[in-house]
Amino acid sequence: MNIIEYYLRYILVTTLSLLVIGCSSNYSEEAGSVEEVMNNVVTRLYSTLNEDELISLKQENLLSYLDEKEIDILSKQHWSFKVNTPVVVSVMRSKRQEVIPFWLEKSGFVKTDLEVKNENQTYEIWQKDFEAGNIELGINGFENFTYHYFISIKPQDVSKNLEIVSITPENQFMTKLDNGAFTYHDWTELVLEEVPESMKGEVLLTTIRGRGKESHLIGAFRKTKYPSTNIPDQVLLTWSSDPSSNIDIQWRTNTTVENGEVKYREVDSNEVMSVYAEKYVMEDRELMNDRYVHRFTAKINNLKPGTKYLYLIEPETDWNNARHFTTASTSDSFSFTWFGDVHQKEEFGLLHNKAEADHPETAFYIIAGDLVDDGLYRNQWDELFENSKGIIDIKPLMNVPGNHDNRYGLGAKMYRDLFSYPTNGPDEVPKEQTYSFTYKNTLFLMLDATSPVEKQASWIENQLKDSDAKWKIAVFHFPPYNGEEPYLNIQEHWLPLFDEYKVDMVFSGHFHYYMRSKPINDGAATDSFNKGTTYIISLGIPGRKVELYEEPYAAVTDQNGWLYQHIRIDGKKLQYQSVSFNGNVIDRFEIYKEN
Ligand SMILES: [Fe+2]
Ligand SMILES: [Fe+2]
Repeated sequence: MNIIEYYLRYILVTTLSLLVIGCSSNYSEEAGSVEEVMNNVVTRLYSTLNEDELISLKQENLLSYLDEKEIDILSKQHWSFKVNTPVVVSVMRSKRQEVIPFWLEKSGFVKTDLEVKNENQTYEIWQKDFEAGNIELGINGFENFTYHYFISIKPQDVSKNLEIVSITPENQFMTKLDNGAFTYHDWTELVLEEVPESMKGEVLLTTIRGRGKESHLIGAFRKTKYPSTNIPDQVLLTWSSDPSSNIDIQWRTNTTVENGEVKYREVDSNEVMSVYAEKYVMEDRELMNDRYVHRFTAKINNLKPGTKYLYLIEPETDWNNARHFTTASTSDSFSFTWFGDVHQKEEFGLLHNKAEADHPETAFYIIAGDLVDDGLYRNQWDELFENSKGIIDIKPLMNVPGNHDNRYGLGAKMYRDLFSYPTNGPDEVPKEQTYSFTYKNTLFLMLDATSPVEKQASWIENQLKDSDAKWKIAVFHFPPYNGEEPYLNIQEHWLPLFDEYKVDMVFSGHFHYYMRSKPINDGAATDSFNKGTTYIISLGIPGRKVELYEEPYAAVTDQNGWLYQHIRIDGKKLQYQSVSFNGNVIDRFEIYKEN
C-alpha cells in the first residue's frame, strides 16, 4: 500500500469518528498473558511427552494439557478492546481452517449464513452481541494457520457514535469494511471481495497473518540437524562500523558456556590482544533438541587498515590453526561477491564454496535477502551457517532481510540476533535491517525492502548526499524492475534518489530468476552505464523452469539460477560477472567511470 492510499484509508477512519488509542494490556499481572501461558505449556509438554508424541500432538487432546485458567486466558486475551456502546462483533474465519477456534462457540458466537471472500479464501461470519465495555477474543488456534481471523464491529444502535479504545495488541489499524479493504498488514494487496451489503461500512479491525504462530503447537515441534555444543561454532564475521578498522566476530555455544573471549594478533606480530564478547540467549521455543543457545558477539575496533589478523575463540589455543580476517586497505581496488535468494539450501553451500575457490581474493559476501525459508525457525539458520562454514569465519557476510527472513508481519528478530551490523539506519526501521557501510571507494546501501519503504527515503538521500564514494551500490530484496510486480512504492520513493545521486547498481532477488537491466534513468533505458542505474535480480540456488516475462528494459535474462556475482573494482573501472555453479559465465560487463 502506498502512502497516499494509507492516508486515504486513515481519513476514512477518522470520518467514521473512531478513536484509535494504542495502550498496553489491562490484564492484571497474575492473570498472565497468552505468551506466558504458551511458554508454560510448552515447558510442561517437554517434561511429559517424548519427541514422537510432541511431533504428533493432536488438536483433540491438546486442551487436556491446559488448566482452566490457561484455557480462559487463551479464550480471551489474544485480541481485546473496549467499546462505548452496545455492538455486534463479527468474526470472519477462513473456511479452509480445519478446526474452529475452540473458544468461539463456547463464548456465545453464532455462525451466520453470511460469507466474505478474498482472492484466496472464503470466510464464514460468526456474530455475537456485546454490551458496552470490554470485548475479549481468543487465539486463532493451535495450528499455524496463516489466514488469521479478522473482525468487524457495528453499534447496535446505528445512530450512536462508536468509540473503540484500549486495544490489545497495540497499534491497531481500523478501516471501513467494504470491497477492496485489506485485512492483513503484511499482505495489503490481498483485499476483500463480495462483502455482504448488510455489513458494508462496519468498522474493520485488521491483523497480521503471523499471529497464528503465537499459539502454534500442532506440527510446531522441530529438531535442528546441528544442535549447539560447548564448543564454539557458527563462527561468523560481520562489520558494525568501518571495515578498515573494525571486525565483529560472532559464534554460538550451548547454555553451559557463560563467557566468550577472542584473542587476536597481527599475522606478523607476537603481541596478543583480547576482547570479551557480549552474550545473549536465543530461544526457539519449539526446537526440541536445542531450545536455548548462547550467542556471542565480540566487537573489535581500532584495528590497522590493510592488515591480516589471526584470531582464536576461547577455548582455542593453537595459533597454527587460527582463523583470520583482513581489514580494508587504503587502496581503491578490491572485489566482492553477492548472491540472490539462498533459502538455506545445500546447493547454496556448494555454490558459496565454489565462489570462494574461484575468487579467493573476494573481500566479503552479500546475500540480498531470503537467506532462509522461515526466519523464525532457528534450525534453518543452523543449516545456512553449516553450509557456509569455513568461509564466513574468514570473510564478512553482509545481508539484507527478505520476506522469508521477516516473516508474516512478525518481524525479523532472529535475523537481527544473528547478524551484528551497523546501527546507522533510519530510526523508523529496526536497527541493523537497513544500514550502510563504505568499503574503500564504494558505498553500500543495505536496505530493508520488507519494512515501510517511504520512511527510509530521507535517510537514503542523506547517505547518498553525504558520501564521496566513487561507486554507489544499493542492495534490497524486492526488485523494482521485474516482470511480475511493479513495487510502486519503491519506484516512487527510492528510484528518483538513485537517479539523482547516480547509484551505479541495484542488487535484488525474490523472483528466483536472473535479470540484468539496461542502465535506467527516470524510468527509461539508456545507452551507457554512466547515464543510468543497472538493476539486477539473481538467485543463489537452482531455478525452476518457468516462462520468463517480457521485460523491454532487460539486457540479460536467465532462468536456471544457481549463480554468484563477482564484482571487481579498480579505481574507475568495475568488472562484473555472473557465474553459474557449472562454471558458465552467463553475464559479463565492465563499467568505466567518466569522472
Ligand atoms: Fe525467495
Ligand atoms: Fe522473497
